[in-house]
Amino acid sequence: MNHTTYPKQPVRTGLPELLDGIREQTSRDLDPRRTALAVADVLRERMPGVELLTEQERIGDADELVSHVLHTEATFSVKAVVWQPGQITPIHDHVAWCAFGVLQGIEYETLYRDNGDHLTEIGRVENGVGEVSGFAPPGDIHRVHNTGDVTAISLHIYGADLSADGVSIRREYDLPIR
Ligand SMILES: [Fe+2]
Repeated sequence: MNHTTYPKQPVRTGLPELLDGIREQTSRDLDPRRTALAVADVLRERMPGVELLTEQERIGDADELVSHVLHTEATFSVKAVVWQPGQITPIHDHVAWCAFGVLQGIEYETLYRDNGDHLTEIGRVENGVGEVSGFAPPGDIHRVHNTGDVTAISLHIYGADLSADGVSIRREYDLPIR
């Protein structure tokens, strides 16, 4: 008799170890900013390689950013984002704390302050492979852009259960910048 199984999820090399480390930190009941920084430390130590995603998943889509929600639970979710060259987010903030790291390529991040009727640019960061950072609302308004000529892949851990729709953006900002 022939027995064949079709696992719903591919093998995610490195993901179980990462999830264990994240749970250790989220169970400490630190404030959101400290949680984000502690989870960023875990991500730095246990950063998976690009083989976390299947070859197909790593391709992305020329028409839009592609997000792969890899794991969700009550207190956090893990999402990989694939950015083809030139792809850019709207200016946005987030529903919860976030730690993220770059698995491939480079992501250029521009940070903004909300002045009510306009935004002010307050910083620019270039995040290359292996670089990790963490942040928590408020003061988390940014735009991320792949200005390189290779597809970028980043891994994001959000302090929220994204199982309903995968959405980590709280608000998009369409204010003048000055
Ligand atoms: Fe973001």
